[in-house]
Amino acid sequence: MRTIKYPNYRARRTRAKNSIRNLVRENELTKNDLIHPVFVVEGEDIKREIPSMPEVYHLSLDNLESEVEDLLELGVPGLVVFGVPDSEHRCPEGTKAYDSEGITQRAIRKIKGLTDKLTVFSDVCLCTYTSHGHCGSVREERVMNDRTLDLLARIALSHAEAGADFVAPSAMMDGQVRAIRSELESNDFENVGIMSYSAKYHSNFYGPFRDAADSSPDFGDRSKYQMDPPNHKEALREIELDIKEGADIVMVKPALAYMDVIKEVSENCDHPLAVYNVSGEYAMIKAASEKGWVKEEAIMLETLTGFKRAGADMILTYYAKEAVECLSEL
Ligand code: PBG
Repeated sequence: MRTIKYPNYRARRTRAKNSIRNLVRENELTKNDLIHPVFVVEGEDIKREIPSMPEVYHLSLDNLESEVEDLLELGVPGLVVFGVPDSEHRCPEGTKAYDSEGITQRAIRKIKGLTDKLTVFSDVCLCTYTSHGHCGSVREERVMNDRTLDLLARIALSHAEAGADFVAPSAMMDGQVRAIRSELESNDFENVGIMSYSAKYHSNFYGPFRDAADSSPDFGDRSKYQMDPPNHKEALREIELDIKEGADIVMVKPALAYMDVIKEVSENCDHPLAVYNVSGEYAMIKAASEKGWVKEEAIMLETLTGFKRAGADMILTYYAKEAVECLSEL
C-alpha cells in the first residue's frame, strides 16, 4: 500500500474546471442585485457626459425613455433618481426640493408613466436644492437637524405623490426616517417604502458625484452630520435606529473602503442591505482602465462580486448596465 503523503485534502480539486467551480461557488452577482442611478436635468435633448464619470450622463426628461427601455431590456430591476435643478431653483432653504413641478418629481412621473415594472427609488436630500450646498437648513453656518426634518418629510411626500416606490433619505439628519415614515403614513402612502442611507460616511469618494450634482458645500464640510470614517460600531447603531424608525432597506455607503462595515451589518441585521458603489469608486476604475493599467470589465465584476461576498443584497452602481452586459456574455 502506498503511504499517503501530505496533503489529504487538496483545495484545488474543486477548482479544476469551470463546471466544478460553478458548483462550489458561494456567491454570485446577478442582474437582480443592481440599481442604476440617473441624473436628470432641466432642458431638452440633453445627454451630456459627466467629465469625472465617463459614460454617465446628465439626461433631460425626453431622454429618460430610452434609458428606461435599456433597463427593461437588460433586466435591471431598479433605478435611483437624482434631480439636478438649475441654479435659479436653488435657495438657502431649498424649498424647490418639494415642488410638485420640480425636476425630480417630473422625472419620477415620467418614468412611472412609461412603466411600472421598474422599482423607482428617489434620493431625498436638500444639497442639490440649497444655494449653500449643505444637506439641511442652515443658521449661522450650522446645519439645523430638526428644522430639516420637516423639509425632508415634505420632499419625501412630494416624491411619493409623483409615484416613487421607495424614497431614499440621504441627508444624515437624526430622526429623518421617523419623520418621513409618519408623513407618508398620514397621507395614505403606507405602501411607499424607505431605503435609508443609514451608515453614510463623510467620504472623499463622493467627489465626482458632487461635480455631477453641483452639490459641494460652500463653507465647511459634512463631517458634523455624516459618519466619521474610522467608526464601525456607530454604523450598527445608525442601522438599528433606522430600522426602529421604519426603514425597509438599510444602506452602507461608500462600499469599497467599507467592506468590513458591510460584512458586520449583514451579520447583525436581517433587513435587506443595500450598498452604494459611489462615484469615486467608479471613477477610479474608469481612470485606471483608460490608462490601460487594469482590465475594466474583470475588475468591475470582481468589485461588485466582492460586495455580494461581504453580504450586500443590492448594489447601487454606475456600472449597472455594463455589468449586466458583461454577465450575459459570460
Ligand atoms: C446626496 C447624495 C450624495 C451621494 C448620494 N446622495 C452626495 C453627498 O452626500 O455629498 C453620493 C453618491 C456618489 O458619490 O456616487 N446627499
